[in-house]
Formats: sequence, C-alpha cells, structure tokens
Amino acid sequence: MSSPLRIVPAKRTAATAAQLAEFGRQTFQDTYAAQNTAEDMALYVAENFGPEQQLAELQDPNTIFFLALMQQQLVGYAKLTIGSGLGAEPGADVRNRAELQRLYVQEDWQGTGLGASLLRRCLDETRQRGCRSLVLSVWEKNEKAQEFYRRKGFKQIGETEFRVGNDVQTDYVLRRGL
Ligand SMILES: CC(C)(COP(=O)(O)OP(=O)(O)OC[C@H]1O[C@@H](n2cnc3c(N)ncnc32)[C@H](O)[C@@H]1OP(=O)(O)O)[C@@H](O)C(=O)NCCC(=O)NCCS
Repeated sequence: MSSPLRIVPAKRTAATAAQLAEFGRQTFQDTYAAQNTAEDMALYVAENFGPEQQLAELQDPNTIFFLALMQQQLVGYAKLTIGSGLGAEPGADVRNRAELQRLYVQEDWQGTGLGASLLRRCLDETRQRGCRSLVLSVWEKNEKAQEFYRRKGFKQIGETEFRVGNDVQTDYVLRRGL
C-alpha cells in the first residue's frame, strides 16, 4: 500500500497561497515566538505571510514550492529559488546556485523524517536543473535547524543580516555542493 503522505510541487493558485499563508504564520510563531517580541513577530508575519505576498512568491518563475500533504492536509513545505546571490562572491555567476528559502515542518511532524524528505526532494530538483550548490540562511539561535543542516552536509560559508520586525538578527549562511 502506498504511503498517504505525499510530497508534490505546489499549484500556483490563490487557494494554495492562502494555505501557505496560514501554515507559514503558524510555524513561524511556533518556532520563533519564544525568542522574539510580540511586536517584531507581528510585523514579520504581516509583511511575509499575507495571502497576496504568498501568491506573488508562488507565481515567481524562479521559485518552486514543494508541499507535504497528509491526505489533503498541509504538514510541511519547502521553498526553493533558482539563482541566488546569498553568500556569493561579488560578480559571481549565480544562475547555478539554488537557495532553500524556507523549510517548515508542522510541530507534530518534526523529528519524523519529513524535513529530510523535503530536503531530498529539493536536492533532486536543483540537480535536475543543473545547479551546482544549494545555499540557505539559518538564525544563529536556531540550533535545532543548524544541527539538522549539519547532518545533511551543509557547511557555514558566512553570515548575513535578517530582519524580524525591527530587530536585525544574524543568520549563518550555509552551503552544500550538489
Ligand atoms: C528543522 C526542521 C526542518 C527539521 O525537520 P524534521 O522533520 O524535524 O527533521 P527530521 O526528522 O527529518 O530529522 C533529520 C535529521 O536531523 C536530526 N534532527 C532533527 N531534529 C533534531 C534536533 N532537535 N536535534 C538534533 N538533531 C535533530 C535527526 O536526528 C535526523 O538526523 P539523521 O538523518 O542523521 O538521523 C524542522 O524541525 C522544522 O520545520 N523546524 C521549524 C522551522 C525551522 O526551524 N525551519 C528551518 C529554518 S532555517
């Protein structure tokens, strides 16, 4: 019998955008609320997880979203962008660098291997598109995600700023060859 859990490319529709907005808001709150002010959290969520913003991201031709669906329920997703200057040398050709911009697994599903499955799907996709490396940024205080990426072969190549509301934070930039 096949598993009821499926990982599928997202349809670039308003209905998917609404699902992603709700899910992204919830997972962002679950992950970061304890270490950020309510005001900064509210500002970030309003700027990034509105349905219009999600639809614009879904319809960007350089992005690919993979959804993890249990029956029709969204339990995780990954967002990839093809062509990323994150952590690149000035003037470098970035067309064959992909960026994992979001990887979110619902709280109840964390630790079940779902994050690893979504990442595998992203690695397959970026290889098929001829990319040579996958980069991402992760908050210096998000030790769980750092450990996850370290186990999956990512190495730190630098740091970058990331703004949550009015708080300018430090993210580590990680890279993995493909
Ligand atoms: C980080 C995240 C994507 C990992 O996905 P996950 O489904 O929980 O992780 P998996 O069950 O696939 O675990 C994969 C590996 O990471 C390890 N791992 C997972 N959680 C860990 C933890 N808290 N501490 C140490 N290792 C951990 C697992 O042991 C496993 O290692 P292995 O493959 O060597 O056996 C997920 O926890 C998540 O969505 N967190 C909230 C949002 C977030 O922080 N996203 C990343 C932002 S950059």
